[in-house]
Amino acid sequence: LPPLRVAVLGCGTVGGEVVRLLLAQADDFTARIGRPLELVGIAVRRAGKERPGIDPALFTTDAQTLVSRTDIDLVIEVIGGIEPARTLILTALASGASVVTANKALLAEDGATLYDAAERAGADLYYEAAVAGAIPIVRPLRESLVGDEVTAVIGILNGTTNFILDKMDTEGAGFAEALADAQELGYAEADPTADVEGFDAAAKAAILSSLAFHSRVGIGDVHREGITEVTAADIASAREMGCVVKLLAICQLSDGGRPDGTGPGRTVSVRVHPAMIPRSHPLAGVGGAYNAVFVESRFAGRLMFYGPGAGGSPTASAVLGDLVTVARNRVRGASGPGESSYAQRVVTGIGDV
Ligand code: HSE
Repeated sequence: LPPLRVAVLGCGTVGGEVVRLLLAQADDFTARIGRPLELVGIAVRRAGKERPGIDPALFTTDAQTLVSRTDIDLVIEVIGGIEPARTLILTALASGASVVTANKALLAEDGATLYDAAERAGADLYYEAAVAGAIPIVRPLRESLVGDEVTAVIGILNGTTNFILDKMDTEGAGFAEALADAQELGYAEADPTADVEGFDAAAKAAILSSLAFHSRVGIGDVHREGITEVTAADIASAREMGCVVKLLAICQLSDGGRPDGTGPGRTVSVRVHPAMIPRSHPLAGVGGAYNAVFVESRFAGRLMFYGPGAGGSPTASAVLGDLVTVARNRVRGASGPGESSYAQRVVTGIGDV
């Protein structure tokens, strides 16, 4: 059977791991998909860099030409950031490929453009790795719970800040030292400001709210406060009160329009900020770079998702899960869930609760 051709954009912490695991599991993937996958190119910024275990002939610095190829079935985007990622994804979709991306910043900034392009092309756009690393949370909200009514999504969505706050709490580490460790371990974004100022968690909260509430929530709709103002003294006084400080994302669907009574339908509010929670609370025990997400829905009740939220292999696991799924869809000539029509919601940053 002819192979499905795969291109990878980016070969950093996540991309490198995706490529290595893809090559290592080639036979298993062929069995699971029903056709082999053939890696045809990896777009990188610097081609000369040593990347053990990967054939140097696969590297190219010309990502645009790679995604313009019409013989490519599947494109994995793990460059991150808005541009050139957006242009490359749009070109890949227009060239007929399905796309797997881990790009939370782009989805939260301009998801609608990507969804529309995928819809027009009849191609898949999957992004499980964009939120909470290895934890399956995108597909549960997009597919499993689509017959329910989700009313709240509350969680720890950034591994770097959780790692930092945990280290400050349990080891008395300083902020800068804990951040340096998180960078060393491959948890932090290229620019760690995205982590510590809450932009990364806000982007993830926007993505989850959009899916959970069938709404369009962008990062600009999210009220955001990071952890840079959290001091050792804050953590110590939280400790004295039997509490721990966590960076929480709180996404809620409320009855009625705006808090002042105007506006139609229901209100979506999304916020990210440090919060003191009692040590007995299940979220208090989420340590290191782990993430946890609570989902409350009308019929299912309360669900909890927990696992590694950052790092090369956990994030690669989510990317490869999407890759196998979209490859299976291709083989069957089918495509996964499109973006259903959006309900009209009033979106506010601060909750009315
Ligand atoms: N920098 C992110 C985090 C990586 O720390 O959670 C996973 O998105």
